[in-house]
Amino acid sequence: MAQSLETIPNNVDLSSDRRLQRALEQWQPNFLEWWKEVGPDGFQGHHVYLRTAISVEANGWAHFDYVKMPDYRWGIFLEPKEKERLIGFGDVIGQPAWEEVPGEHRNSLRRIIVTQADTEPASVEQQRLLGKTCPSLYDLRNLFQVNVEEGRHLWAMVYLLHRFFGRDGREEADELLQRRSGSADKPRILNAFNEPIDEWLSFFMFTMFTDRDGKYQLAALAQSGFDPLARTTRFMLTEEAHHLFVGETGVDRVVQRTAELMAAGKDPAKEGAVPFALIQKYINLWFSLSLDLFGGEVSSNAADFFAAGLKGRFREDQLEEHKAMGQIYQMEVPEGGKLVEQQVPLRNAMNEVLRDEYVKDCQRAVDRWNKTLEKAGVSGLKLRLPHRRFHRAVGPCAGLFFDPDGRMVTEDESRRGAWLPTAEERAWVKTLMHPVFERGKMASWIAPPAKGIDGKPVDFEYVKPPSA
Ligand SMILES: [Fe+2]
Ligand SMILES: [Fe+2]
Repeated sequence: MAQSLETIPNNVDLSSDRRLQRALEQWQPNFLEWWKEVGPDGFQGHHVYLRTAISVEANGWAHFDYVKMPDYRWGIFLEPKEKERLIGFGDVIGQPAWEEVPGEHRNSLRRIIVTQADTEPASVEQQRLLGKTCPSLYDLRNLFQVNVEEGRHLWAMVYLLHRFFGRDGREEADELLQRRSGSADKPRILNAFNEPIDEWLSFFMFTMFTDRDGKYQLAALAQSGFDPLARTTRFMLTEEAHHLFVGETGVDRVVQRTAELMAAGKDPAKEGAVPFALIQKYINLWFSLSLDLFGGEVSSNAADFFAAGLKGRFREDQLEEHKAMGQIYQMEVPEGGKLVEQQVPLRNAMNEVLRDEYVKDCQRAVDRWNKTLEKAGVSGLKLRLPHRRFHRAVGPCAGLFFDPDGRMVTEDESRRGAWLPTAEERAWVKTLMHPVFERGKMASWIAPPAKGIDGKPVDFEYVKPPSA
Protein backbone atom coordinates (compact mmCIF):
# COMPACT_ATOMS: atom_id res chain seq x y z
CA MET A 1 0.00 0.00 0.00
CA ALA A 2 1.55 3.27 -1.11
CA GLN A 3 1.72 6.07 1.37
CA SER A 4 -0.69 8.87 0.61
CA LEU A 5 0.88 12.14 -0.47
CA GLU A 6 -1.91 14.28 0.88
CA THR A 7 -1.12 16.76 3.64
CA ILE A 8 -3.32 14.80 5.99
CA PRO A 9 -3.08 11.03 5.41
CA ASN A 10 -6.56 9.52 5.59
CA ASN A 11 -8.92 6.85 4.40
CA VAL A 12 -12.04 9.01 4.72
CA ASP A 13 -11.83 10.56 1.26
CA LEU A 14 -11.01 13.92 2.76
CA SER A 15 -10.30 15.54 -0.62
CA SER A 16 -13.94 15.12 -1.60
CA ASP A 17 -15.03 17.44 1.20
CA ARG A 18 -13.13 20.67 0.60
CA ARG A 19 -14.63 22.56 3.53
CA LEU A 20 -13.70 19.87 6.00
CA GLN A 21 -10.27 19.45 4.48
CA ARG A 22 -9.60 23.18 4.75
CA ALA A 23 -10.81 23.29 8.35
CA LEU A 24 -8.50 20.43 9.32
CA GLU A 25 -5.61 21.96 7.39
CA GLN A 26 -6.11 25.05 9.51
CA TRP A 27 -6.10 23.02 12.68
CA GLN A 28 -2.94 21.16 11.64
CA PRO A 29 -0.37 23.97 12.28
CA ASN A 30 -1.95 24.57 15.69
CA PHE A 31 -1.50 20.90 16.45
CA LEU A 32 2.18 21.11 15.45
CA GLU A 33 2.59 24.22 17.58
CA TRP A 34 1.10 22.35 20.50
CA TRP A 35 3.42 19.37 19.85
CA LYS A 36 6.47 21.64 19.85
CA GLU A 37 5.40 23.48 22.96
CA VAL A 38 4.33 20.61 25.24
CA GLY A 39 5.19 17.43 23.34
CA PRO A 40 8.39 15.46 24.17
CA ASP A 41 11.04 17.81 25.56
CA GLY A 42 14.07 17.48 23.29
CA PHE A 43 14.67 14.71 20.71
CA GLN A 44 12.64 16.49 18.05
CA GLY A 45 15.54 16.27 15.60
CA HIS A 46 16.35 12.64 16.49
CA HIS A 47 15.64 9.80 14.10
CA VAL A 48 13.23 7.47 15.88
CA TYR A 49 12.40 3.99 14.61
CA LEU A 50 8.63 4.44 14.55
CA ARG A 51 5.60 2.61 13.31
CA THR A 52 3.26 4.77 11.23
CA ALA A 53 -0.32 3.86 10.35
CA ILE A 54 -0.75 4.10 6.60
CA SER A 55 -3.98 2.13 6.09
CA VAL A 56 -6.27 -0.05 8.16
CA GLU A 57 -5.61 -3.32 6.34
CA ALA A 58 -4.89 -6.08 8.85
CA ASN A 59 -1.53 -7.02 7.37
CA GLY A 60 -0.26 -3.73 6.13
CA TRP A 61 -1.34 -0.82 8.24
CA ALA A 62 1.93 -0.43 10.06
CA HIS A 63 5.02 0.89 8.39
CA PHE A 64 8.32 0.99 10.34
CA ASP A 65 11.08 3.47 9.59
CA TYR A 66 13.26 6.19 11.07
CA VAL A 67 11.22 9.37 11.44
CA LYS A 68 11.78 12.69 13.14
CA MET A 69 8.81 13.10 15.44
CA PRO A 70 7.56 16.42 14.01
CA ASP A 71 7.53 14.72 10.56
CA TYR A 72 5.35 11.84 11.78
CA ARG A 73 2.38 11.48 9.43
CA TRP A 74 -0.54 11.90 11.79
CA GLY A 75 -3.56 10.73 9.89
CA ILE A 76 -7.25 9.89 10.01
CA PHE A 77 -8.10 6.22 9.71
CA LEU A 78 -11.42 4.53 10.30
CA GLU A 79 -12.18 0.86 9.88
CA PRO A 80 -14.07 0.36 6.63
CA LYS A 81 -17.83 0.55 6.73
CA GLU A 82 -19.73 -2.69 7.12
CA LYS A 83 -22.69 -2.67 4.77
CA GLU A 84 -25.86 -2.06 6.74
CA ARG A 85 -24.50 -2.43 10.22
CA LEU A 86 -27.28 -2.65 12.80
CA ILE A 87 -27.14 -1.27 16.32
CA GLY A 88 -26.46 -4.18 18.64
CA PHE A 89 -27.88 -3.20 22.02
CA GLY A 90 -30.15 -0.99 24.08
CA ASP A 91 -33.63 0.24 23.23
CA VAL A 92 -32.58 0.87 19.62
CA ILE A 93 -31.29 -2.64 18.99
CA GLY A 94 -31.80 -3.79 15.41
CA GLN A 95 -32.08 -0.30 13.96
CA PRO A 96 -29.56 0.76 11.29
CA ALA A 97 -26.42 2.35 12.75
CA TRP A 98 -26.31 6.15 12.34
CA GLU A 99 -24.03 7.73 9.77
CA GLU A 100 -24.83 11.20 11.11
CA VAL A 101 -25.37 12.34 14.70
CA PRO A 102 -29.02 12.06 15.77
CA GLY A 103 -30.13 15.46 17.09
CA GLU A 104 -31.31 14.09 20.43
CA HIS A 105 -27.88 12.54 21.13
CA ARG A 106 -25.78 15.40 19.93
CA ASN A 107 -24.81 16.70 23.36
CA SER A 108 -24.13 13.28 24.86
CA LEU A 109 -22.01 12.16 21.92
CA ARG A 110 -20.08 15.40 21.88
CA ARG A 111 -19.34 15.02 25.58
CA ILE A 112 -18.27 11.39 25.16
CA ILE A 113 -15.95 12.28 22.27
CA VAL A 114 -14.45 15.35 23.93
CA THR A 115 -13.78 13.48 27.18
CA GLN A 116 -12.00 10.69 25.31
CA ALA A 117 -10.17 13.16 23.05
CA ASP A 118 -8.88 15.21 25.98
CA THR A 119 -6.97 12.26 27.46
CA GLU A 120 -4.88 11.86 24.29
CA PRO A 121 -2.95 15.17 24.30
CA ALA A 122 -3.05 15.15 28.12
CA SER A 123 -0.92 12.01 28.35
CA VAL A 124 1.64 13.43 25.90
CA GLU A 125 1.93 16.50 28.12
CA GLN A 126 2.25 14.40 31.26
CA GLN A 127 5.11 12.38 29.78
CA ARG A 128 7.05 15.16 28.11
CA LEU A 129 10.14 15.04 30.32
CA LEU A 130 10.64 11.27 30.35
CA GLY A 131 12.96 11.08 27.34
CA LYS A 132 15.76 12.66 29.34
CA THR A 133 15.88 9.78 31.82
CA CYS A 134 15.13 6.80 29.55
CA PRO A 135 16.37 3.40 30.81
CA SER A 136 17.39 2.31 27.27
CA LEU A 137 17.07 3.25 23.60
CA TYR A 138 14.46 0.51 23.26
CA ASP A 139 12.33 2.19 25.94
CA LEU A 140 12.95 5.65 24.54
CA ARG A 141 11.58 4.50 21.20
CA ASN A 142 8.53 2.96 22.86
CA LEU A 143 7.82 6.16 24.76
CA PHE A 144 7.89 8.19 21.56
CA GLN A 145 5.75 5.61 19.76
CA VAL A 146 3.14 5.97 22.47
CA ASN A 147 3.38 9.77 22.29
CA VAL A 148 2.96 10.10 18.51
CA GLU A 149 0.06 7.63 18.56
CA GLU A 150 -1.72 9.54 21.31
CA GLY A 151 -1.29 12.49 18.96
CA ARG A 152 -2.91 10.45 16.20
CA HIS A 153 -5.78 9.54 18.50
CA LEU A 154 -6.34 13.22 19.05
CA TRP A 155 -6.52 13.61 15.26
CA ALA A 156 -9.05 10.78 15.09
CA MET A 157 -11.34 12.47 17.61
CA VAL A 158 -10.85 15.93 16.10
CA TYR A 159 -11.93 14.56 12.73
CA LEU A 160 -15.21 13.42 14.31
CA LEU A 161 -15.71 16.82 15.96
CA HIS A 162 -15.04 18.73 12.74
CA ARG A 163 -16.98 16.43 10.48
CA PHE A 164 -20.11 15.86 12.56
CA PHE A 165 -20.51 18.66 15.11
CA GLY A 166 -20.30 21.85 13.06
CA ARG A 167 -19.17 25.00 14.76
CA ASP A 168 -19.39 23.53 18.29
CA GLY A 169 -17.15 20.72 17.16
CA ARG A 170 -14.55 23.10 15.73
CA GLU A 171 -14.52 25.07 18.97
CA GLU A 172 -14.06 21.90 20.99
CA ALA A 173 -11.19 20.90 18.69
CA ASP A 174 -9.47 24.22 19.36
CA GLU A 175 -9.95 23.89 23.10
CA LEU A 176 -8.34 20.45 23.04
CA LEU A 177 -5.11 22.26 22.14
CA GLN A 178 -5.63 24.95 24.78
CA ARG A 179 -6.16 22.91 27.94
CA ARG A 180 -2.96 21.76 29.63
CA SER A 181 -2.26 18.87 31.92
CA GLY A 182 -1.81 20.17 35.47
CA SER A 183 -2.71 23.77 34.59
CA ALA A 184 -4.46 25.73 37.35
CA ASP A 185 -6.84 27.64 35.08
CA LYS A 186 -7.24 25.29 32.07
CA PRO A 187 -6.61 21.76 33.32
CA ARG A 188 -7.37 18.56 31.43
CA ILE A 189 -10.87 17.16 32.05
CA LEU A 190 -10.10 13.99 34.03
CA ASN A 191 -8.06 14.11 37.20
CA ALA A 192 -5.66 11.25 36.52
CA PHE A 193 -4.51 13.21 33.48
CA ASN A 194 -3.37 16.22 35.46
CA GLU A 195 -0.66 14.42 37.45
CA PRO A 196 2.81 14.70 35.97
CA ILE A 197 4.46 11.44 35.01
CA ASP A 198 8.04 12.35 35.57
CA GLU A 199 9.70 9.01 36.21
CA TRP A 200 9.55 5.73 34.35
CA LEU A 201 8.06 3.51 37.01
CA SER A 202 4.99 5.74 36.88
CA PHE A 203 5.09 5.71 33.08
CA PHE A 204 4.94 1.91 33.02
CA MET A 205 2.19 1.91 35.66
CA PHE A 206 0.29 4.52 33.64
CA THR A 207 0.53 2.58 30.38
CA MET A 208 -0.37 -0.62 32.23
CA PHE A 209 -3.31 0.65 34.29
CA THR A 210 -4.50 4.02 32.98
CA ASP A 211 -4.14 3.37 29.25
CA ARG A 212 -5.96 0.11 29.92
CA ASP A 213 -8.97 2.06 31.12
CA GLY A 214 -8.77 3.70 27.68
CA LYS A 215 -8.91 0.29 26.06
CA TYR A 216 -12.18 -0.54 27.82
CA GLN A 217 -13.72 2.87 27.10
CA LEU A 218 -12.75 2.54 23.43
CA ALA A 219 -14.07 -1.02 23.31
CA ALA A 220 -17.42 0.14 24.70
CA LEU A 221 -17.53 2.95 22.12
CA ALA A 222 -16.55 0.50 19.37
CA GLN A 223 -20.09 -0.88 19.85
CA SER A 224 -21.70 2.54 19.45
CA GLY A 225 -24.72 3.11 17.25
CA PHE A 226 -22.91 6.17 15.88
CA ASP A 227 -21.01 4.29 13.22
CA PRO A 228 -18.12 6.72 12.55
CA LEU A 229 -17.29 6.66 16.27
CA ALA A 230 -17.43 2.86 16.33
CA ARG A 231 -15.13 2.57 13.32
CA THR A 232 -12.67 5.17 14.63
CA THR A 233 -12.31 3.55 18.03
CA ARG A 234 -11.86 0.10 16.50
CA PHE A 235 -8.79 1.26 14.70
CA MET A 236 -7.48 3.16 17.74
CA LEU A 237 -7.66 -0.09 19.69
CA THR A 238 -5.11 -1.73 17.40
CA GLU A 239 -2.62 1.03 18.26
CA GLU A 240 -3.59 1.03 21.92
CA ALA A 241 -2.58 -2.62 22.20
CA HIS A 242 1.08 -1.61 21.86
CA HIS A 243 0.76 0.95 24.67
CA LEU A 244 -0.62 -1.71 26.97
CA PHE A 245 2.20 -4.04 25.95
CA VAL A 246 4.72 -1.33 26.87
CA GLY A 247 3.12 -0.96 30.31
CA GLU A 248 2.62 -4.62 31.14
CA THR A 249 6.08 -5.74 29.99
CA GLY A 250 7.66 -2.61 31.50
CA VAL A 251 6.38 -3.47 34.98
CA ASP A 252 7.28 -7.10 34.34
CA ARG A 253 10.90 -6.14 33.62
CA VAL A 254 11.06 -4.03 36.79
CA VAL A 255 9.74 -7.01 38.75
CA GLN A 256 12.24 -9.31 37.06
CA ARG A 257 15.23 -7.11 37.90
CA THR A 258 14.14 -6.79 41.55
CA ALA A 259 13.46 -10.52 41.80
CA GLU A 260 16.83 -11.47 40.34
CA LEU A 261 18.62 -9.29 42.87
CA MET A 262 16.56 -10.69 45.74
CA ALA A 263 17.19 -14.25 44.61
CA ALA A 264 20.92 -13.46 44.62
CA GLY A 265 20.61 -12.32 48.23
CA LYS A 266 21.06 -8.65 47.39
CA ASP A 267 19.10 -5.61 48.51
CA PRO A 268 17.45 -4.11 45.40
CA ALA A 269 17.53 -0.57 46.84
CA LYS A 270 21.32 -0.78 47.27
CA GLU A 271 21.69 -1.97 43.67
CA GLY A 272 19.72 0.93 42.24
CA ALA A 273 16.56 -1.13 41.70
CA VAL A 274 13.02 -0.80 43.08
CA PRO A 275 12.28 -2.69 46.33
CA PHE A 276 9.47 -5.22 46.11
CA ALA A 277 7.28 -3.37 48.63
CA LEU A 278 7.53 -0.17 46.64
CA ILE A 279 6.44 -1.89 43.42
CA GLN A 280 3.35 -3.01 45.33
CA LYS A 281 2.65 0.53 46.52
CA TYR A 282 2.86 1.83 42.96
CA ILE A 283 0.39 -0.84 41.87
CA ASN A 284 -1.94 0.23 44.69
CA LEU A 285 -1.74 3.84 43.57
CA TRP A 286 -2.15 3.46 39.82
CA PHE A 287 -4.75 0.71 39.92
CA SER A 288 -6.98 2.72 42.25
CA LEU A 289 -6.55 5.99 40.31
CA SER A 290 -7.45 4.18 37.12
CA LEU A 291 -10.54 2.49 38.61
CA ASP A 292 -11.99 5.95 39.20
CA LEU A 293 -11.91 6.66 35.47
CA PHE A 294 -14.77 4.22 34.90
CA GLY A 295 -17.11 6.54 36.83
CA GLY A 296 -19.56 5.91 39.66
CA GLU A 297 -20.73 2.39 40.56
CA VAL A 298 -24.34 3.40 40.07
CA SER A 299 -24.88 5.79 37.18
CA SER A 300 -27.99 7.00 35.42
CA ASN A 301 -25.77 8.48 32.70
CA ALA A 302 -24.34 5.06 31.98
CA ALA A 303 -27.88 3.65 31.86
CA ASP A 304 -28.97 6.36 29.42
CA PHE A 305 -25.95 5.85 27.18
CA PHE A 306 -26.65 2.13 27.02
CA ALA A 307 -30.39 2.52 26.41
CA ALA A 308 -29.74 5.05 23.63
CA GLY A 309 -27.23 2.80 21.86
CA LEU A 310 -24.34 5.22 22.41
CA LYS A 311 -22.04 3.04 24.52
CA GLY A 312 -22.22 -0.73 24.81
CA ARG A 313 -20.53 -3.28 27.01
CA PHE A 314 -17.12 -4.84 26.45
CA ARG A 315 -17.51 -7.21 23.50
CA GLU A 316 -21.25 -6.58 23.50
CA ASP A 317 -21.46 -8.30 20.12
CA GLN A 318 -20.32 -11.56 21.73
CA LEU A 319 -22.87 -11.49 24.55
CA GLU A 320 -26.12 -13.43 24.32
CA GLU A 321 -28.49 -10.77 25.50
CA HIS A 322 -28.31 -7.10 24.54
CA LYS A 323 -31.07 -5.24 26.33
CA ALA A 324 -29.99 -5.60 29.95
CA MET A 325 -33.59 -5.07 31.04
CA GLY A 326 -35.19 -6.50 34.17
CA GLN A 327 -31.82 -7.71 35.47
CA ILE A 328 -30.04 -6.96 38.68
CA TYR A 329 -26.40 -6.34 39.49
CA GLN A 330 -25.57 -7.09 43.08
CA MET A 331 -22.92 -4.93 44.73
CA GLU A 332 -21.65 -4.19 48.20
CA VAL A 333 -21.69 -0.51 49.07
CA PRO A 334 -20.81 1.38 52.25
CA GLU A 335 -23.79 2.81 54.09
CA GLY A 336 -23.87 4.24 57.59
CA GLY A 337 -20.43 2.93 58.48
CA LYS A 338 -20.87 -0.61 57.18
CA LEU A 339 -21.12 -2.52 53.94
CA VAL A 340 -24.55 -3.47 52.70
CA GLU A 341 -25.72 -5.49 49.70
CA GLN A 342 -27.41 -3.38 47.11
CA GLN A 343 -29.40 -4.53 44.12
CA VAL A 344 -28.91 -2.23 41.18
CA PRO A 345 -30.75 -2.43 37.85
CA LEU A 346 -28.16 -3.77 35.42
CA ARG A 347 -28.29 -0.75 33.12
CA ASN A 348 -27.41 1.54 36.01
CA ALA A 349 -24.43 -0.67 36.82
CA MET A 350 -22.83 -0.45 33.37
CA ASN A 351 -19.75 1.37 34.68
CA GLU A 352 -19.24 -1.43 37.18
CA VAL A 353 -19.80 -4.08 34.51
CA LEU A 354 -17.04 -2.51 32.40
CA ARG A 355 -14.83 -2.19 35.49
CA ASP A 356 -15.28 -5.94 36.12
CA GLU A 357 -13.73 -6.71 32.73
CA TYR A 358 -10.90 -4.30 33.42
CA VAL A 359 -10.13 -5.81 36.83
CA LYS A 360 -9.99 -9.31 35.30
CA ASP A 361 -7.53 -8.09 32.69
CA CYS A 362 -5.34 -6.41 35.34
CA GLN A 363 -5.39 -9.59 37.44
CA ARG A 364 -4.15 -11.56 34.43
CA ALA A 365 -1.14 -9.22 34.20
CA VAL A 366 -0.43 -9.47 37.94
CA ASP A 367 -0.49 -13.27 37.66
CA ARG A 368 2.10 -12.99 34.94
CA TRP A 369 4.34 -10.76 37.10
CA ASN A 370 4.04 -13.31 39.90
CA LYS A 371 5.25 -16.02 37.53
CA THR A 372 8.25 -13.82 36.76
CA LEU A 373 8.97 -13.56 40.50
CA GLU A 374 8.74 -17.31 40.86
CA LYS A 375 10.90 -18.02 37.82
CA ALA A 376 13.60 -15.71 39.16
CA GLY A 377 13.63 -17.80 42.35
CA VAL A 378 11.68 -15.60 44.74
CA SER A 379 9.20 -17.70 46.68
CA GLY A 380 6.63 -16.71 49.26
CA LEU A 381 6.12 -13.22 47.86
CA LYS A 382 3.32 -12.19 45.56
CA LEU A 383 2.12 -8.97 44.03
CA ARG A 384 -1.59 -8.25 44.14
CA LEU A 385 -4.26 -5.83 43.12
CA PRO A 386 -5.77 -3.91 46.02
CA HIS A 387 -9.51 -4.30 46.55
CA ARG A 388 -11.54 -2.03 44.32
CA ARG A 389 -12.82 -0.09 47.34
CA PHE A 390 -9.27 0.92 48.24
CA HIS A 391 -8.28 4.60 47.75
CA ARG A 392 -11.23 5.61 45.62
CA ALA A 393 -12.14 9.21 44.87
CA VAL A 394 -15.24 8.43 42.78
CA GLY A 395 -18.36 6.46 43.73
CA PRO A 396 -19.79 5.43 47.12
CA CYS A 397 -16.34 4.67 48.61
CA ALA A 398 -15.00 8.16 47.98
CA GLY A 399 -14.19 10.03 51.19
CA LEU A 400 -14.10 6.76 53.19
CA PHE A 401 -11.07 4.66 54.06
CA PHE A 402 -10.46 1.02 53.17
CA ASP A 403 -7.44 -1.22 53.40
CA PRO A 404 -6.15 -3.13 50.36
CA ASP A 405 -8.42 -6.05 51.40
CA GLY A 406 -11.45 -3.78 51.15
CA ARG A 407 -12.09 -3.60 54.91
CA MET A 408 -13.27 -0.28 56.22
CA VAL A 409 -10.65 1.43 58.40
CA THR A 410 -10.29 4.81 60.06
CA GLU A 411 -8.37 7.63 58.46
CA ASP A 412 -5.65 7.10 61.06
CA GLU A 413 -5.31 3.40 60.35
CA SER A 414 -5.23 4.19 56.68
CA ARG A 415 -2.31 6.56 57.16
CA ARG A 416 -0.38 4.10 59.31
CA GLY A 417 -0.97 1.36 56.79
CA ALA A 418 1.45 3.02 54.37
CA TRP A 419 -0.15 1.43 51.35
CA LEU A 420 0.72 4.19 48.92
CA PRO A 421 4.13 5.57 47.94
CA THR A 422 5.08 8.56 50.09
CA ALA A 423 6.44 11.79 48.66
CA GLU A 424 9.92 10.72 49.82
CA GLU A 425 9.61 7.36 48.11
CA ARG A 426 8.50 8.97 44.89
CA ALA A 427 11.42 11.38 45.10
CA TRP A 428 13.75 8.43 45.75
CA VAL A 429 12.45 6.58 42.67
CA LYS A 430 13.36 9.65 40.66
CA THR A 431 16.96 9.40 41.87
CA LEU A 432 17.18 5.96 40.21
CA MET A 433 16.41 7.43 36.82
CA HIS A 434 19.79 7.91 35.16
CA PRO A 435 19.51 8.05 31.38
CA VAL A 436 21.01 5.21 29.37
CA PHE A 437 21.59 6.06 25.70
CA GLU A 438 24.10 3.31 24.89
CA ARG A 439 22.84 0.67 22.46
CA GLY A 440 21.62 -2.50 24.18
CA LYS A 441 22.38 -1.21 27.71
CA MET A 442 19.71 -1.11 30.43
CA ALA A 443 19.35 1.06 33.55
CA SER A 444 20.06 -0.56 36.92
CA TRP A 445 16.39 -0.94 37.83
CA ILE A 446 15.05 -2.82 34.82
CA ALA A 447 15.73 -6.13 33.03
CA PRO A 448 16.14 -6.16 29.25
CA PRO A 449 13.06 -6.97 27.15
CA ALA A 450 12.61 -10.53 25.86
CA LYS A 451 12.86 -9.27 22.30
CA GLY A 452 13.15 -6.10 20.24
CA ILE A 453 10.63 -4.19 18.14
CA ASP A 454 9.69 -5.21 14.57
CA GLY A 455 11.99 -8.24 14.70
CA LYS A 456 15.02 -6.06 15.43
CA PRO A 457 17.51 -7.08 18.13
CA VAL A 458 17.33 -5.52 21.59
CA ASP A 459 20.60 -3.65 20.94
CA PHE A 460 19.29 -2.09 17.72
CA GLU A 461 19.80 1.68 17.49
CA TYR A 462 16.13 2.56 17.97
CA VAL A 463 16.85 6.27 18.36
CA LYS A 464 19.68 8.05 16.51
CA PRO A 465 20.95 11.55 17.27
CA PRO A 466 20.32 14.27 14.65
CA SER A 467 23.82 14.11 13.15
CA ALA A 468 23.63 10.38 12.44
FE1 LIG B 1 -4.88 6.90 22.97
FE1 LIG C 1 -2.62 4.88 24.73
